[in-house]
Amino acid sequence: MIDTEAVQTVTRNENKLEIVGRKPLNGVVKISGAKNAVLKLMAAALLSNNDCLIRNVPRIRDVETMIGVLNGLGAETVWEDESTIRIQIKDGLGYAAPDQYVREMRASVQVMGPLLARLGKVKLFQPGGCIIGQRPIDLHLKGFQALGAEVIEEHGYVYVRADKLKGAEIHLDFPSVGATENIMSAAILAEGTTVIRNAAKEPEIIEEQNFYNRLGARIRGAGTDTIRIEGVKQLNNRMTDYTVIPDRIEAGTFMIAAAITGGDVVLEDVIPEHVEALASKLREIGVTIEANGEKLRVVSDGRLKAADVTVLPYPGFPTDLQPQITALLAVANGTSVITENVFGSRFRYVDELIRMGAVIRVESRSAIVKGVKRLSGASVCAPDLRAGAALVIAGLAADGLTTIEGLQYLDRGYVALEKKLAALGADIQRVE
Ligand code: EPZ
Repeated sequence: MIDTEAVQTVTRNENKLEIVGRKPLNGVVKISGAKNAVLKLMAAALLSNNDCLIRNVPRIRDVETMIGVLNGLGAETVWEDESTIRIQIKDGLGYAAPDQYVREMRASVQVMGPLLARLGKVKLFQPGGCIIGQRPIDLHLKGFQALGAEVIEEHGYVYVRADKLKGAEIHLDFPSVGATENIMSAAILAEGTTVIRNAAKEPEIIEEQNFYNRLGARIRGAGTDTIRIEGVKQLNNRMTDYTVIPDRIEAGTFMIAAAITGGDVVLEDVIPEHVEALASKLREIGVTIEANGEKLRVVSDGRLKAADVTVLPYPGFPTDLQPQITALLAVANGTSVITENVFGSRFRYVDELIRMGAVIRVESRSAIVKGVKRLSGASVCAPDLRAGAALVIAGLAADGLTTIEGLQYLDRGYVALEKKLAALGADIQRVE
């Protein structure tokens, strides 16, 4: 209803992608900075006492939306060059996140922890459920309450306030990425030590820990299921210059695109460990993957074997690559079962793949995919970001012309996807 990774009624965008499929991808592609790390680092900058320079920032719509949130709160955020932003926190920072942007992007909730820590209060339009499943923030709020904050939910807003935050032991019911990050932020200036157990272990959490520690926080354990935050009285006054990690989901999207087209692609600027769950699944499917430092070569002869995929929190197979791998398995030899364990309803794109000739049945949390020899180009519409990427992947392998609408989702999370694919030899163009 509110999030636009998926708004229920997809606002049609005039722009379309046209893809003529069955061209193998070949060449080198450079991976951009990680969307889901950058957005959190930008929110984290709200705790900084001096300027923050964040480098390797992908120029995507979600980043522009987060700039809107920060500037709406009274920060000054400017692009220093194509991939560097400078965030300056001014006196008189507001505590109410601007509705317009919160409605637009769910990741806006990540300003809650930093604002609560800095100002002792924060108010936010209540983010709702969305197309990929219900996405409550109860775990974030329970964490704030455990630290001593009061939570008031009324008139569609959530208001959190605290005269003083105190360290606590918090056990998350589910290793939520956003809750882990928000609680970590809120605990930085609290009195005493906070321990988050069953914490999310995603690489983006490690990024946030490293960033906060540069600001003067004392956090240990990110990347494991137990994170310890020793409250400090104040953060340092130094300027921070931080380069964000590469985007593992963008990397994974290109790996799958290379695999489905029978291509030979070298990805530059990747951390191979971050895509290991996908790499090992692709090997099982019959794709050759070779890591060499920060490069990854993906070679496929186009003969793909069915495989079952179980989506789990990191280091399990990522939910953000679930639609893309389903598109790949739609043309693999045999039957695959893909089980989604992170979000409640992330198979809405399946109807679009069926339009392209895929044979898929969704039963509860699983999609049963009977591989077909060929997909056929069709006119389809992306219902959300990663689903859009899956349709692009399907289009790259399909016979004839595929037209994809709903590009406003793709533009939220991928830097010039069609340009990068075209440079690898895909026949793809954006039509105004
Ligand atoms: C982050 O969302 C990512 N977004 C998502 O990426 C990603 O799919 C997700 O983590 C899982 O990896 C950003 O980082 C901006 P969660 P987040 O809290 O933090 C339930 C993309 O395509 N839950 O780990 O919102 C929730 O409903 C996006 O780039 C609660 O029940 O994910 C879901 O089922 C999409 N209560 C599960 O936990 C809560 O308070 C995981 O959500 C919080 C979460």
